[in-house]
Amino acid sequence: MLSGQAAAATVREWMSAAASIAVLTGAGISAESGIPTFRGPGGLWRTYRAEDLATPQAFARDPHLTWEWYDWRRAVIATAEPNAGHLALAELERRFHGLTLITQNVDGLHDRAGSRRVLKVHGDLWILRCTACASEWRDLRPSLPHLPPTCDCGGMARPGVVWFGEGLPEETWNSAVTAVRGTELLLVIGTSAVVYPVGGLVQLAQSAGAKVVEINVAETPVSAMVDLAWRASATIALPQLIQSA
Ligand code: OAD
Repeated sequence: MLSGQAAAATVREWMSAAASIAVLTGAGISAESGIPTFRGPGGLWRTYRAEDLATPQAFARDPHLTWEWYDWRRAVIATAEPNAGHLALAELERRFHGLTLITQNVDGLHDRAGSRRVLKVHGDLWILRCTACASEWRDLRPSLPHLPPTCDCGGMARPGVVWFGEGLPEETWNSAVTAVRGTELLLVIGTSAVVYPVGGLVQLAQSAGAKVVEINVAETPVSAMVDLAWRASATIALPQLIQSA
């Protein structure tokens, strides 16, 4: 394994040689902003059961319970700030026009850090969608006054996120696949890469000939197959990518 400095130098070299870069982020990039991940120590899926909260069936059974959970997450995220990892990726986007940022996170911290084009393949916690008329709107209030919230048409709203058993937003997903197929370098940051189809983007990039770098504090199922597994936290590793060599 390379030291942190050697890993940073290698990735910077690969970045400067690449005509296109794709970045895939997961909950780990927001961990140092105080937002719990899903599967690690203190992870949400260690305390809560996804099938009770984050499926269409759970919502149909008890929309109030599902909404309480999402409203609690909105409140937690509203008090969080983007960290040095999010900020470094926003800076990379400004410097590198061929960069595509794909995130599984619904927290909106990439937007708040200044990233302009974020492919949110698992949706956005700050978007509400009407279950009756399908209209969507943004609501940034950390705590909604009435649960479940309703649309102007009177229909019940749901969180604009992807639940287990649902398809991904088609246009966003297609853009992510196109970017990964065409990229020369993929950075995989803070994700366990176990949720499909997003986890499959790593193999897709490799089979299309891209170099793949993983930045993660722990080993994951993709660590053994990537070109460089950089064992570091996002806030330590990513700022090093925007430093000059
Ligand atoms: P996970 O909780 O599965 O994985 C988080 C990853 O981040 C782990 O591999 C950690 O080792 C790593 N990590 C933790 N802190 C880190 C840090 N400071 N720097 C770098 N890495 C760190 O979260 P995701 O992979 O994002 O989906 O989970 C994928 C999907 O599963 C989520 O989008 C969500 C969840 O169920 C839906 O809700 C549809």
